[in-house]
Amino acid sequence: MSVSITPSVGTHSKIIAIGAYRPERIVTNDEICETIDSTDEWIQTRSGIKSRHFAAEDENVVDMCVEAAKKAIAVSGLAVDQIDCIIIATNSHYNQTPQAATLVAHRLGLNKPGSFDLAAGCAGFSHGLAVASDLIRGGSAKHVLLVGADHMSVGLDMTDRSTAFIFGDGAGAVIVGPSDVPEIGPVVWGSDGEQSVAIRQEPTWMEIVRSGDYSRPALHMEGQAVFRWAAFSMGKVARQTLEVSGVTIEDLDAFIPHQANQRITEVLCHSLKLPETLPVADDIVTTANTSSGSIPLAMEAMLRDGKAKPGGLALLVGFGAGLAFAGQVVRLPKFVG
Ligand code: UT7
Repeated sequence: MSVSITPSVGTHSKIIAIGAYRPERIVTNDEICETIDSTDEWIQTRSGIKSRHFAAEDENVVDMCVEAAKKAIAVSGLAVDQIDCIIIATNSHYNQTPQAATLVAHRLGLNKPGSFDLAAGCAGFSHGLAVASDLIRGGSAKHVLLVGADHMSVGLDMTDRSTAFIFGDGAGAVIVGPSDVPEIGPVVWGSDGEQSVAIRQEPTWMEIVRSGDYSRPALHMEGQAVFRWAAFSMGKVARQTLEVSGVTIEDLDAFIPHQANQRITEVLCHSLKLPETLPVADDIVTTANTSSGSIPLAMEAMLRDGKAKPGGLALLVGFGAGLAFAGQVVRLPKFVG
């Protein structure tokens, strides 16, 4: 008889704690309009954004992750050596090698955990949450530190008026751990590579090398195409997400979509027929679109400001470059750093 593999010691999973980091420097729309032909009024009307945070010259994704993670760990009740896996969801770490995760783990003094980066555009945190939850449920990890972080300002062409105003920098960290009952629902995810050109870094590294023009690449976005895709498709994704979790709109305590554009959020609220009393994330107003950082930053803001209650049920929907999306229903963490 062949030897069987020891069955997993799986359990359920939950978000234990959350921490956030927003860089000190606040950049107003007026400052953005110094390099693009636009106005504060246009930016606010078309996107909902009033201001954003930009990282300092000497600050990068790893630094932002460390600050957000320290806050989450501090309130989690865990010792650092209890974290056995770290996932950094990001699109803007300066190096493809080494990955940001090992650097962050080392800076935090974690005990050499499993560590890797995950890139899924603005849906990175949502993908990371699915992976973290399943690692715990499958018995491969006990406590996962997941940080969604992006340093968008470093990859923007500040003279491109289709992108310069919409993005910001920041990091949001959560600790995911075991639970007696399910507190992170199944993920509903997918992608549409046919539309991959709609959000892209250009030129590629090899094109830069071959051209000999060593200017840094920038992010380009077909805003209208992405807007249409998100506004029309993400409502369906949100409904499927509720369905697979056995949760109704009436059960929800908060809606936390990716902070891409306040108008996209409004279309989603309308198409889902959310009650006006349901708290909806609006962190975009002062944080803008921080890509992988957006959902955990918005979650932290709602908990900190008392707009959502710890332990409440929240619907999360991440979407962006790829194009890729991922949605989950989660119970909000009890500990906010
Ligand atoms: O996080 C990843 C996922 N990303 C998203 O979900 C972003 C989705 N897209 C968007 O949020 C929106 O497309 C933007 C906010 C980026 C742009 O808003 P829009 O309403 O789609 O603008 P538009 O590109 O349709 O342009 C409308 C008009 C045009 O002028 P005409 O042709 O109507 O005369 C543009 O030339 O506004 C003009 N315009 C601007 N005017 C002032 C475009 N950008 C600007 C600007 N300031 N920055």
